[in-house]
Amino acid sequence: MSRTHDHEISFDEFDELRNPPPLRTDFDRIAERMMSRRALLRGGAALGAATIIGAGTTGLASRSADAAERLAFAQVSANTLDTVTVPPGYRWHVVVRWGDPLWSDAPAFDPDTRGTGASQERAFGDNNDGMALFMHGRRHVLAVNNEYVNRRIIYGNRESGAPENADDVRKGKAGHGVSVVEVAERDGRWTIVHDSPYNRRITADTPMELTGPARGHELLRTDADPSGTVSLGTWNNCGNGRTPWDTYLACEENFNGYFSSSDPDYRPNEDHRRYGVGPEDRGYAWATTDERFDISRHPNEPNRAGYVVEINPFDPHSTPKKRTALGRLKHENAEVVLAADGRVVVYMGDDERGEFLYRFVSERAYRAGGENSDLLESGTLSVAKFEDDGRGEWKDLTPASTGMSGPAEIAVRTRQAASAVGATTMDRPEWVAANPIRTEACCCLTNNRNRGKKPNAGGDLTPVNGPNPREANKYGQIVRWRPDGGDHGAQGFDWDLFVIAGNPTVHEDARAGSANVNAGNMFNSPDGLAFDRNGLMWIQTDGNYSNADDFAGQGNNQMLIADPETGEIRRFMVGPKECEVTGFAFSPDRRSVFVGIQHPGEKGGSHFPGGGGSVPRSAVIAINREDGGLIG
Ligand code: FEO
Ligand code: CA
Ligand code: CA
Ligand code: CA
Repeated sequence: MSRTHDHEISFDEFDELRNPPPLRTDFDRIAERMMSRRALLRGGAALGAATIIGAGTTGLASRSADAAERLAFAQVSANTLDTVTVPPGYRWHVVVRWGDPLWSDAPAFDPDTRGTGASQERAFGDNNDGMALFMHGRRHVLAVNNEYVNRRIIYGNRESGAPENADDVRKGKAGHGVSVVEVAERDGRWTIVHDSPYNRRITADTPMELTGPARGHELLRTDADPSGTVSLGTWNNCGNGRTPWDTYLACEENFNGYFSSSDPDYRPNEDHRRYGVGPEDRGYAWATTDERFDISRHPNEPNRAGYVVEINPFDPHSTPKKRTALGRLKHENAEVVLAADGRVVVYMGDDERGEFLYRFVSERAYRAGGENSDLLESGTLSVAKFEDDGRGEWKDLTPASTGMSGPAEIAVRTRQAASAVGATTMDRPEWVAANPIRTEACCCLTNNRNRGKKPNAGGDLTPVNGPNPREANKYGQIVRWRPDGGDHGAQGFDWDLFVIAGNPTVHEDARAGSANVNAGNMFNSPDGLAFDRNGLMWIQTDGNYSNADDFAGQGNNQMLIADPETGEIRRFMVGPKECEVTGFAFSPDRRSVFVGIQHPGEKGGSHFPGGGGSVPRSAVIAINREDGGLIG
């Protein structure tokens, strides 16, 4: 069963191998437009903002006295230290790490074995990502996604760096999913509450209910579940959401990399190809112990993943619900807001090169204190179409617009449905966040080396376009939209680019970035995104941390805070070596912010957070002001 993988490739590299480049590109066709875009970019994003958004903005790169007050901290310099760096006047501490037991009768983390299947099922999962902090009475309950496991670290006790027996596979499956854990603050430090009645591990084997339009559809039926209504587990949970009725949303992203084929003659069908399901998994070997991951025997099993999963964080015996109404994508996060009439609006990115940005609007309206538990059962799924003139539209995915048989098929073959309505191919939509003090939302478009060079997996061309203005985009950008009439339920919107990341110390063309990027605050690959109560935008990065060549001077992955009114951006935090910074939660008293440090040392170069020669461990940290003041 041993499988050696010398190079742990990222999920997007894995998908790229599944989808090799065509011989011909559409570069020639877009070259002319690219040149005119560069001329626009030289003027900076402010020009675009002034012409596109108009009223209400002051120009994205201007600096006002107000901005200085709103971003009231000294910018942290880029660095490559193996620790967390915060501004003077702030401090941080670790709240929980991969492998920390959630119950007092479970074994402590063993750095030699890195745990067993049984211990991992009772411990905090690996690679924490999106999270949310809930209040239940006076108690704090933290729900955290555990996106995937770092094979070289979790199997660091194996020479192969890979699962070698059934218990290794069990450990890997248990390292995935969601950890729900009560936390408490004592003497200014947050710690987990062992044995809390809220504590729960949800793994790749936890029973789930399939709900919504695709429930029971033949595309969801398998030998193990002929009803198509129940499935086991959730995995690759990336970003998250939270609902106004206090449930947690865990978003299934790169679900494809866990399936493999025992039949050497297996050929992926069209559905498999569009979602990157193929004959080899990403080295986790789940099919060796769990036949449902054998794609040649159970071709519908991947149709049961790729959803948003709704979880009641207060009831550890509740069954998580996969909400097929929100579509099947490589879901990044799920930003929940309300339309003017009270219907629930969920913004969602599909993080793959050339895929799309989505919106769900519930059929029924939210009622405070009412029965809201099934609001995500039914509604309208739409996909964004951006015009180059600064306008955009949500195109509804219906049988008439897509040519599909009904809502069930649209819920499963969502990417194909979006292609059918001519949605705008995007530079890998990561998190969406909505501003609480003004009706606008932003999405991180992290990077896309295929822009202008290669179609997406469905064959849609990806020419340079308005919100994706750079060919072979290395640095990423953040697109912002303002719905018509200040209503997130409206079909039309205005859009602009809040920031185009880049490196002005290396480049003078469009790769230098927009005018609100400078040598002091530069970054690449924006990913995590959240607004705080004051309408400031927090940006986390998952990018190239080589600190060399095109990325010289950018240091480790980081977190920045931006003022959407002025466009100003300041670096607030730098993460340790080889990490990604991902996931936010503000404490209800706004005196702490929880931040995720994911995969420190993924290439063997970090010992965070233990230091010395310790095993690197993904962790949730909390940041406070030293004077106990408000943060965020
Ligand atoms: Fe798991 Fe798109 O990040
Ligand atoms: Ca992400
Ligand atoms: Ca990312
Ligand atoms: Ca990640």
